Amino acid sequence: MRHNFDEIINRRVSECKKYEAACYPEDVLPMWIADTDFAVPAEISEAIQQRAKHPCFGYPIESFEFEEAAARWERVRFGWNVDPHWVKYANGVLPFLMDASRAYSYPGDKVVIFSPFYENYSADTILSGAVPIYVPLTPPSFTFDPEVLEDAFRQHPKALVLCNPSNPCGKVFTREELEIIAGLAKKYDVYVITDEVYEHIIYAPHQHTYFAALPDMWERTLSCSSLSKTYSITGWRLGYIIAPPEIIDRAKKVHDFLTVGAAAPLQEAIIPGLNFGQDYYDALQAEYTHKKDLFLKGLDDLKIVHNDPEGAYYVMLDISEFGYESDLQFCEDLASKVGVGAVPGSSFFREPVNHLIRLHFAKKDETLTDALNRLESLREKIPAKG
Ligand SMILES: Cc1ncc(COP(=O)(O)O)c(C=O)c1O
Repeated sequence: MRHNFDEIINRRVSECKKYEAACYPEDVLPMWIADTDFAVPAEISEAIQQRAKHPCFGYPIESFEFEEAAARWERVRFGWNVDPHWVKYANGVLPFLMDASRAYSYPGDKVVIFSPFYENYSADTILSGAVPIYVPLTPPSFTFDPEVLEDAFRQHPKALVLCNPSNPCGKVFTREELEIIAGLAKKYDVYVITDEVYEHIIYAPHQHTYFAALPDMWERTLSCSSLSKTYSITGWRLGYIIAPPEIIDRAKKVHDFLTVGAAAPLQEAIIPGLNFGQDYYDALQAEYTHKKDLFLKGLDDLKIVHNDPEGAYYVMLDISEFGYESDLQFCEDLASKVGVGAVPGSSFFREPVNHLIRLHFAKKDETLTDALNRLESLREKIPAKG
């Protein structure tokens, strides 16, 4: 256990460095932290202004209006009626990952995590007293070996965490892959905690399949999602979890002990967003497809090697040609010499990886063009070592 905590703290060192980079005297473009820099939809911005005129000061323990709107929204996607009582909202999706681990695992229980992973999964698992079992997703398409996955299930984990689409690698799991996971979850009686915060940011021809909507999976799935990415409001910290009554009741209780609930005015102000029609999501998808094309074409023109994400808004750059031993050092040089902030890839992998860095393209076109202009001088400002 001690060893695991040390490992987390060491990972946090690279995280902290990335925030430190924000304080560099140069004008560094923040392409590491996944904040958007464009306007939120007008209906949501109007709603928050209205709420400010009629502030509410109560603890936000339950918001039936929010849960009803979220349930209505999910009904369309899952294809069946979702009872508002099966929904719980919170300040961001992150507390739910913690709730889910705490509600369903006891110290020493095992949790399967695909690597690369969103950094919080291993931290939340370990802080909950559980033990991660990592299963590699192998580049370039970040597929998993079903045999290796079954080996992990043979160790009798309590849960598997599924990030779909994935941060950082942009993988969108195919229906066939999800069916393999579902088959193993059923065979070994394992819960699946999904993190589907990028469910609306998918690039054609890829398609998102809701894990809970697969046959027999609703009963064992805790579906977590966030409004941060869908409505470009990362700072609002709004997310929610949906699960059948016997699962959600326990998670709700754990959540109440941890954070009670999200800020009441914010979760009320987002309701117009939850009521948007399909045209909003189509436009969001089109906008992100445009941003991805713009940024990745720019990287291609600069002959910078990168992956091709199928969903989410991250791209991993291969920095092998620069000959660095430390991806963290590379990111520091990139921030201080080129003025672009990136995250070292090693933050996301269980395996020793030092040749990847992660940028994101959830930015205005001007910001993306500025980043590309700066990257033009990359090889001149950071010459290859040796
Ligand atoms: C995969 C993933 N899950 C969760 C989050 C955080 O979501 P929220 O803002 O709802 O806490 C992020 C944010 O970057 C993310 O990439």
